[in-house]
Amino acid sequence: MTTEQSPALDNLLTESRSFPPQPEFAAAANATADWYSEADADREAFWAKQAERLHWDTPWTQVLDWSNAPFAKWFVGGKLNVAYNCVDRHVEAGHGDQVAIHWVGEPGDTRDITYAQLKDDVSKAANGLLSLGVTAGDRVAIQLQMIPEAIVAMLACARIGALHSVVFGGFSPSALRQRVDDADAKVVITSDGQYRRGKAAPMKANVDEALEGAGSVEKIVVVRRTGDDLEGDVPWSDGRDVWWHELVDAQPADHEPEAFDSEHPLYILYTSGTTGKPKGILHTSGGYLTQAAYTHNAVFDHKPGQDVYWCTADIGWVTGHSYIVYGPLANRATQVVYEGTPNTPHEGRHWEIIQKYKVSIYYTAPTLIRTFMKWGADIPAKYDLSSLRLLGSVGEPINPEAWMWFRENIGGGNAPIVDTWWQTETGAIMISPLPGVTHAKPGSAQQPLPGISAKVVDDTAAEVGRGGGGYLVLDKPWPSMLRGIWGDDQRFKDTYWSRFSEQGFYFAGDGAKYDNDGDVWLLGRVDDVMNVSGHRISTTEVESALVSHHTVAEAAVVGASDATTGQGIVAFVILRGDAAEAGDEAIQELRNHVAKEIGPIAKPRQIMVVPELPKTRSGKIMRRLLRDVAENREVGDVTTLADSTVMDQISKGLSSGSDD
Ligand code: PRX
Repeated sequence: MTTEQSPALDNLLTESRSFPPQPEFAAAANATADWYSEADADREAFWAKQAERLHWDTPWTQVLDWSNAPFAKWFVGGKLNVAYNCVDRHVEAGHGDQVAIHWVGEPGDTRDITYAQLKDDVSKAANGLLSLGVTAGDRVAIQLQMIPEAIVAMLACARIGALHSVVFGGFSPSALRQRVDDADAKVVITSDGQYRRGKAAPMKANVDEALEGAGSVEKIVVVRRTGDDLEGDVPWSDGRDVWWHELVDAQPADHEPEAFDSEHPLYILYTSGTTGKPKGILHTSGGYLTQAAYTHNAVFDHKPGQDVYWCTADIGWVTGHSYIVYGPLANRATQVVYEGTPNTPHEGRHWEIIQKYKVSIYYTAPTLIRTFMKWGADIPAKYDLSSLRLLGSVGEPINPEAWMWFRENIGGGNAPIVDTWWQTETGAIMISPLPGVTHAKPGSAQQPLPGISAKVVDDTAAEVGRGGGGYLVLDKPWPSMLRGIWGDDQRFKDTYWSRFSEQGFYFAGDGAKYDNDGDVWLLGRVDDVMNVSGHRISTTEVESALVSHHTVAEAAVVGASDATTGQGIVAFVILRGDAAEAGDEAIQELRNHVAKEIGPIAKPRQIMVVPELPKTRSGKIMRRLLRDVAENREVGDVTTLADSTVMDQISKGLSSGSDD
């Protein structure tokens, strides 16, 4: 078979640990094993049932219209108001006094916002936007840090049918400008300044710089957050700029939500493409909210009124959209929203917050888990984390060792971990264990959720067998799928639907493999796959092998051209807090460790100890820059790095190498 002669991706790492669900957890779990067979028997009926968890003003007449693929329509003819579903209906059902948001500011100030207050705030903000002339279909750009107004602004847009385009607070003026121009945003919402690591930094000044001469922008609404803590005046343009509190506080708290078509656009969220121009991923209303709410309920086992939920993402990313705003609020969650960084003012800040609010569900990213590992297990050990009953991870493959560390040190050795695979484009979780059902394996996202269909295929689109690796594709439409790229249908088709156009598969860009039980393991972006002597080796597996060594906290590997083997594996590692400086012997031991864990073919040619790794602002490792270092090239564009000095630190600090 061709797949056996030349697999799309080799399967090297084996992991045999498995954790069955605790019986008490399983007995009370929201999801049950029969959901898989129910969804398989009739997918559309299954999704219709999930959609019925929402309030529809007009029922749909057809669940899915896929006649114009890849442009899907879900819940055709149905009408609903997304903000009403996330806020008002809970108040009407008698839960107005329930806290929706426990907000924690970076300097230590706090606010508790009930559903009743949230309803008033969102209604006033909706009235405020209407008074500025914003109408359904208009675009509103939001560049705000993690403050309640960010969530209120998003919901206010949804309430009046305007599309929000949230731009991460740390993005540069030029990144903001590009996004504002692409969407022709009419209004921009920002703040005077933001707290970052104990200091107030300007926001409005950056926005002004970005928007100089921006033709589409009529108004800039400014939330007062840092006030007098910010040095210098907030630049102001009379007539264009308006304070949020002056605009919103004066508005009536009554606003009648209008029902919009299920396919009415809800938001645009830009994700960086491989080529310069970011892609404006478009999501719509009914299908998106259905899947965001369904997954939040099933994957996090969320119990309204009982759980305290915390997703540590920023609203600038899709995780913040689906699992801070839309999913949790549609499910009447009580959640923590934290403004600051995890080490301000100390490295136990998250654990302190979990202890204080008795957080029971904690959803974060592998990059942060590995950072916590680096800081040391003694830090969380000082806090009472016994309220935690479920942990989640998203954004990157979670290495088995990081998974185990998370379970042992944060989850008390028994909290289930859900490793959730999805993308900005998928809108909601696609592949994940179901807590209470799945026998969890450290490092595996395991199975497509009930109602979702995904496959690992080879170059010819044939599904690979158990133990085989290849490309992860989504072979059936799903409710929260992207509906396009804003203003560029051709790019939408070319980017996602052309690789397997004959089969009509959506290609996600990720490599994956099946283990012998048929569980899915994500192997990183296919662009990063290394080819060593004809073996196609995933970066993830080698990184996981490195992280499984007790001295390593984080690792990134890249393929560098090699005269003999085509590519050679070059690894960059960060050592754990308690590990000594690595000498030649320690490096040698690490190389041997990888060879022992996954085979001699994957033994890194070179290992470099570095103080930091280059990451995007959402925490993904930028292997492209490491390839430049590994191949002794001048380092390429660093503008999307979270910390632009990291590459200098790496070049200066390269402490060791090996070449045998
Ligand atoms: O490569 C996969 C990785 O993150 C990509 C999507 O990134 P983004 O659109 O920024 O959305 C991140 C939050 C959903 C994917 O193509 N990724 C995300 N989750 C996982 C993952 N890789 C492995 N395991 C995951 N659980």
